Amino acid sequence: MSREREPIGVIGTGYVGLVTAAGFAELGSDVYCVDIDADKIARLERGEIPIYEPGLAELVEKNRRRLHFSTELSDALDQARLLFVAVGTPPTYSGDADLSAVNAVVSAMPPSDRHALVMKSTVPVGTGANITRVFGEQGKEGFRYVSCPEFLKEGAAVADFLNPDRVVVGDDSDWAGDAVVELYSPLDAPLVRTDIPSAEMIKLASNAFLATKISFINEIANVCEETGANVQEVARGMGLDERIGPQFLRPGIGFGGSCFPKDVSALKQLAGNSGYHFQLLTSVIEVNELQKRRVIQKLQKHLGSLVGKRIALLGLAFKANTDDMREASSLVLAARLQADGARVSAYDPVAEDEARELMPSGVDFAGSSLDAVDGADAVVLVTEWPEFAELDFADVAARMSGTLVVDGRNHLDPETVRAGGLKYEGIGRR
Ligand SMILES: NC(=O)c1ccc[n+]([C@@H]2O[C@H](COP(=O)([O-])OP(=O)(O)OC[C@H]3O[C@@H](n4cnc5c(N)ncnc54)[C@H](O)[C@@H]3O)[C@@H](O)[C@H]2O)c1
Repeated sequence: MSREREPIGVIGTGYVGLVTAAGFAELGSDVYCVDIDADKIARLERGEIPIYEPGLAELVEKNRRRLHFSTELSDALDQARLLFVAVGTPPTYSGDADLSAVNAVVSAMPPSDRHALVMKSTVPVGTGANITRVFGEQGKEGFRYVSCPEFLKEGAAVADFLNPDRVVVGDDSDWAGDAVVELYSPLDAPLVRTDIPSAEMIKLASNAFLATKISFINEIANVCEETGANVQEVARGMGLDERIGPQFLRPGIGFGGSCFPKDVSALKQLAGNSGYHFQLLTSVIEVNELQKRRVIQKLQKHLGSLVGKRIALLGLAFKANTDDMREASSLVLAARLQADGARVSAYDPVAEDEARELMPSGVDFAGSSLDAVDGADAVVLVTEWPEFAELDFADVAARMSGTLVVDGRNHLDPETVRAGGLKYEGIGRR
């Protein structure tokens, strides 16, 4: 027997907020979405999707009737008890999480005995306790708080929402936690119901562990280059061990994006602020920064000085299937190349608009892979977009003035590249 679904509010309609809203609408809830970005809300009301996320436009369209968009909190407060918070928590210059958007939401809440904030934003351990204290100081002690961290991956966010590995609910064992559990129940996902600090830590520890796995395999790749082993084979052999698993054992030119760099750094800072030096994470961050720069050494090995050389970057987004450019390796690479005197051309199938805002000035944007490689001394594959593996490398060779392809994601078949008359240099493989 189907029961009527509870309406909810979602505050912040970015990658997490919009996917969460569309996902709960798909499960049958009316969702009252709020954002301070009036332009974004106007676009959403017109049926436009402001971000690139596979399947999201279709899900929003399908559930249009249940999705309501506004810049005002009042509708969400009137209609819903549970207010999911999905505002940004970017890093501050010190590496701590910037909680100003979260704090603005907390301050905007009225005194209430019937509402709860459900935190989807990634926040430091202790945030829930601080917010509960602030509610008390502001005379809003009736407001409940639930930690419900989000684990979706950009590029697969819709599928991740509808089929999560687990749902984590941290609460004070009250009605609000029960209501969040009930909302997620149709997904039939493993549930971890726990206290608030543990839920907050599960999110940070998960991202820190995945980042550690990436830095680990990147270091193994670097040692493979010195010793003649092939990291692709090594990763395959390691990944078949059930205790290790194949995921996140893909060597490359470092992790980026809006989550891993900031969450690893936030956990390291959090530990430091509590008097504990998290040595492992310090290394994970350092390895990642060095990994982004190793591409420069690979280019220099073949080309010598980069002064006046034209280098084409294929792919700019921090990974494939997203337009997200936050902390993308391409940003560091373009700046380093320009600092070494190289001229940089660049192409991305979906992230060009975002890249134009963030890339250093002087980068030449091209409308296709072949236009980007025109006259290039070397090509660097930065993002593993599927279309790059489909390129005709004889055509690429004909447009380049040099012959070097650096495959920063081990995404290409070395033999296919060589058959086109080009030199192939991957990460950790001959
Ligand atoms: N992007 C991911 O893959 C991902 C995955 C898991 C968790 N998270 C976490 O989720 C949170 C949101 O990330 P995101 O990538 O969706 O961010 P985002 O920048 O895409 O979206 C944040 C939205 O919040 C809005 N906003 C800011 N202040 C507001 C306020 N006071 N009231 C209403 N709206 C406000 C912004 O205008 C923006 O639209 C972050 O804490 C992030 O770490 C992100």
